[in-house]
Amino acid sequence: MGGTGPEGRGLATRLGLAGIPAFVGSREIDRAREAVAKIRTAGVTIIEAASNDEVADRCDLVFLAVPFARAAEVVDAYRDRFRTRAVVVDLTVPLAFVDGVPRFVEMPEGSAAEHLRARLPATVRLAAALKTIPASVLGRVEVALDCDEFVCGDSPQARAAVIDTLGRIPGLRLLDVGGLEASRSLERMTLLAVEINKRYKIRTARFRVVGL
Ligand SMILES: NC(=O)c1ccc[n+]([C@@H]2O[C@H](COP(=O)([O-])OP(=O)(O)OC[C@H]3O[C@@H](n4cnc5c(N)ncnc54)[C@H](OP(=O)(O)O)[C@@H]3O)[C@@H](O)[C@H]2O)c1
Repeated sequence: MGGTGPEGRGLATRLGLAGIPAFVGSREIDRAREAVAKIRTAGVTIIEAASNDEVADRCDLVFLAVPFARAAEVVDAYRDRFRTRAVVVDLTVPLAFVDGVPRFVEMPEGSAAEHLRARLPATVRLAAALKTIPASVLGRVEVALDCDEFVCGDSPQARAAVIDTLGRIPGLRLLDVGGLEASRSLERMTLLAVEINKRYKIRTARFRVVGL
């Protein structure tokens, strides 16, 4: 869902290149088709277009790549439509840009991921991943990812499902960082990456853990 934006499209491209079939979900099927046409220019043939409704109906792993400010309404709209035991993967980062300056948005539950978890039924699992990888890297397939990505979630099964899938993307090492509370740190790490990008005039800051 939200697969037509730079982050979702970049992810779909990387999944496709890794041989993992996926749908690009959109509110408008024509926008999804346009995004898939762009992905095909990278030589990817196994990514398909779908409506968000179809994604909720058919997918056991759903990446939520919509703007943070809209994520709760999307979850509310689909909470009773997601498949039983589906894993929803939250990519959202609670940042608001005020006059171009990124501001962290404090969530009452502690993080954006926990805010979304609170809106979902127990039959749907929630994980958080890809919050610290910029679209400017994901979407440029000529750039090696060459980094770690952190996965937290409300259950070991949710984390394992995400790691099994994303772990097939070359250059990406997935680290299981435990329960959803870890998203409080991950979401702030994204703000740090944004600040590093700004200070060093780059768009590619991401993370690698050493000593592991
Ligand atoms: N950009 C990055 O570098 C980056 C890095 C890490 C994490 N993230 C997170 O990833 C998410 C996506 O980022 P992005 O930059 O790709 O976002 P975006 O371009 O602003 O939005 C992505 C897609 O969300 C859908 N959308 C917009 N408003 C919506 C609404 N009211 N209801 C439902 N869907 C809506 C749109 O798809 P349709 O109109 O086709 O439905 C849009 O193409 C964000 O939460 C962001 O915090 C981004």
